[in-house]
Parts: sequence; structure tokens; C-alpha cells
Amino acid sequence: MNAPTPRVLAIVLAALVFAPSTGSAERAFKSAAKDNFKWHCAQCHGEKGNGKGPNATADLPVEPRDLTSKTDIPRFTDDQVTKTLTHGGPANELSSIMPPWGNTLSKKEIEDLLAFVRTLGGPFNPDLGPPEKTKRKTDAALSDR
Ligand code: HEC
Repeated sequence: MNAPTPRVLAIVLAALVFAPSTGSAERAFKSAAKDNFKWHCAQCHGEKGNGKGPNATADLPVEPRDLTSKTDIPRFTDDQVTKTLTHGGPANELSSIMPPWGNTLSKKEIEDLLAFVRTLGGPFNPDLGPPEKTKRKTDAALSDR
């Protein structure tokens, strides 16, 4: 076999120099979850997660929940959020307008998104009681524009 050319060595060295250090691993996970949120969730839930994304128009019969709500999101257990994220709203008797992500995102990515959602609305709080039922806009409200 030929000895590696200087060019190949330079590429290998560059890869080593620019490889992220293990110290930044946690930061990398956080930014991956943020990127996934911006890409897959923000159009409905808004970049800040407040439920005011560009797709949350009057045409959408069910409002994307405000993920920053400290009185709504903490009603959902981690299991429930994971179920919704994986299988969509109907897995928790919620609207199918909340899509399933189990075929798009890995288990780890969904876990990281759950952690990200918890940074917005806070941890599960059983004192608040079960989640409120889906509020649907009536057909009348939709045609009344
Ligand atoms: C097409 C619009 C849409 C997109 C895209 C979307 N959602 Fe939702 N989401 C909804 C709607 C609508 C609801 C409210 C469903 C209901 O109340 O019946 C909801 C509810 C939720 C809830 C609260 C319900 C629960 O069981 O936890 C969470 C958390 C959530 N979404 C997170 C996400 C995340 C994270 C993403 C991206 C991976 C995402 N959503 C993408 C529309 C969307």
C-alpha cells in the first residue's frame, strides 16, 4: 500500500483539530433539540413555543398548545408527552393536528425534545390535575371570517 500523501495527512489533521471536544457534548444535544424544534415544531408552536407559529391561523381548527404555559403543559406526564411526540395527538385523545414524529425522529431526539419542552413549560406537576380537553373551534367560528 502507498504511504498517505501529505494532502491526506493534512485532511486527517484538520478533522482532528476541528472535531468537537467531548466537553461540548451537552451543548450539542441542546442545540440539536432546538434545531429539531425550529424545523419540525415552530411552524405550529412558534419559535418561542408560545403556540403562535405561522401555521397557527384561523384555519387551524385546534390551536397548537402554548408550550410555555406553566398551568397547561405541566399537567402532562413525561410519558404522555413522549407518547404524543411519538404517535401524535390521538395517542393521548388529543387532536390529530398534532402530528406523530416516531418515524421522523429517533427515540433519543424525542427524549431531547421532551427535555426541551420541559425547559419551556416546567416539569410535570400532579397538583394541577389532568390536562384540559382539546378546545376545538366550531365550524361557525371558522366560516365567520
Ligand atoms: C401541524 C401543527 C403542529 C406541529 C408541526 C407540531 N404540533 Fe404539537 N400540537 C399541535 C396541536 C394542534 C396541539 C394541541 C392538540 C390538542 O390539544 O388536541 C399540540 C400539542 C402539543 C403538546 C401538548 C400535548 C401533549 O400531549 O404533550 C406538545 C408537548 C407538543 N404539541 C409538542 C410538539 C413538538 C415537540 C413538535 C415538534 C416535534 C410539535 N408539537 C409539532 C400542533 C402541532
